[in-house]
Formats: sequence, structure tokens, C-alpha cells
Amino acid sequence: MKGAISDPGESVQKVMEKCARRWERAVRGGRLPNNQAEADGDWERRLHELIGAPWPCPDATAFAPAWDSATATMAEHGLRVGRENFGGDDDADPGLARALWCLVCHLRPDHVVETGVAHGLSSRIMLEALKRAGDGRLWSIDLPPMTIPERRVEVGAAVPQALRERWTYLEGASRRRLSPLLRQLGQIEIFCHDSLHSTRNVRWELTTAWNALSPGGVVVVDDVDHNWGFEQFLRAGDDRQALFGMADDGQRVFAIARKMPAGQRAQQGAS
Ligand SMILES: C[S@@+](CC[C@H](N)C(=O)[O-])C[C@H]1O[C@@H](n2cnc3c(N)ncnc32)[C@H](O)[C@@H]1O
Repeated sequence: MKGAISDPGESVQKVMEKCARRWERAVRGGRLPNNQAEADGDWERRLHELIGAPWPCPDATAFAPAWDSATATMAEHGLRVGRENFGGDDDADPGLARALWCLVCHLRPDHVVETGVAHGLSSRIMLEALKRAGDGRLWSIDLPPMTIPERRVEVGAAVPQALRERWTYLEGASRRRLSPLLRQLGQIEIFCHDSLHSTRNVRWELTTAWNALSPGGVVVVDDVDHNWGFEQFLRAGDDRQALFGMADDGQRVFAIARKMPAGQRAQQGAS
């Protein structure tokens, strides 16, 4: 997990992020998207419809033991699971984790990419699901917070050694790491954003990942109620179908967008 995080390119990106945030504050006056209302209580059934998976979900009951096992691994490190648990960053909510679990179990991807690791709850759940689903691998990009260097040992704590052979951890900002990784992989089936939740970064990550996403593939985006990135991404093309889900604790909204295969797009346009 070693690597340089004081890359000069990352410093430039930080400045550009600051400017973008200032501009956004000036233009929007602090307004945030109102997608809490769109977060459907029935999102789990709708997620299965979205990807054409069976409902009730045959893989759902195996999620609880996987989640319990992840929290037990955290406890072995003396860590709990929750919000603002790694500096100001949250661990994955179980609702988001269930969505990732089902998507991996049903889509049986070869290549999954995520940004934002922290303790690695989402990584752990996707790795467990990958093991169940086939031979797929996970690549996780993460820039640990610079404000708590003494806690860097906690990065990926939820991922035990036994699951690491199909996991590649890449340290650094997504701006630096994501494009070369996608070029190397060629095509991915699932992308999960859970890194820097700014409009500029979310829009950029999603646009970049979308270009490498296979038809029928999905992007999962946490905390879409905290910036305009997902809204802007959604409006930018007619090849995406989305749904919004509420975290189990009711505090945050996440979203899933599926890349519609060309044939389905044509049908939708004709109807
Ligand atoms: C919300 S936490 C991730 C939680 C994790 N997905 C889980 O399931 O518990 C966000 C993580 O993204 C990292 N991060 C922040 N900015 C980043 C960036 N520009 N690129 C990559 N990672 C970043 C943070 O340091 C933190 O480790």
C-alpha cells in the first residue's frame, strides 16, 4: 500500500477543486439537489428490475453473514463501523453495501473499479461477492486523508489477507490513477464512486468510467445529495437509466445508473 501522495499533479488538482467549489457556491448559493424525494423505499426491487435479475433476490440472505464478518474484522482491529469514522469520512452504509453485493452477485463482473477505500467496507463486500460470483477482480483507488497520517494503518482494515489476491489497491487521487487504470483494463462492468464528493470530481470520475463501461454495466455513486455531479452526469446522455436509494440510516442518498445497451435505447426512443 505504499506510494507517493505528494504528487505535484495532485497539488494542482487541489487548487482547481477549490476554485470549482468557490464558483459553485457563488452560482448555486449552497443549494443541493433535492433527490431525497426520489430515493425510493422500494429501491432493492427496482435495482433487480434495472439489471434484469430475479426478485426476490436469491443472493440476499448471504449478505448479512458477509456484513457481520466485515464488522467482525473491523472489531479485530479495534474499529467500529459508522459515519465520520475515518477523519470526516464515512464507512459504507449497509444499504449501499447491499446494493454493491447484489450488483456483483448478479452481473458477475470480470473488472470492478472503485474510488474511495478508507477502512474498506465497500471493498470487502465486493470482494466477498466476487468470490461467490466467479473470477472477477477489484481495483480500488484511494487518496488517504492527509489530516490524519497516524491513522493510515487503518486503510483497508476490513479486507483480510485471504481476500487480497483478487484485490489491487492503488494509492493516489482518482484524477491521477483512474484514466491509466481504465486504459490498462480496457473494459469494466461496475464502477463505484465513494471518494471526493465534489461536483467537479464526481462528474469527471463518472464521465471517465462511463467511457470504459460495458453496455449493461453500472455505476454506483454514494452521497449524490451532497453535490451536483450525478445530476449533471445523468443529464449528459440518453444511454443511462438511474435509480436512487436511501442509506439504511436515512441520512444519505446513493444512486445507480445502468448503461443501456444500444438496442434498448433505440426501443425506448421509438416508444
Ligand atoms: C467515504 S470514504 C470511503 C468509504 C469506503 N468506500 C467504505 O466503504 O467504507 C472516502 C475515501 O476517499 C478518499 N479520497 C478523498 N479524496 C480522494 C480522491 N481525490 N481520490 C481518491 N480517494 C480520495 C478519502 O481519503 C477516503 O479514504
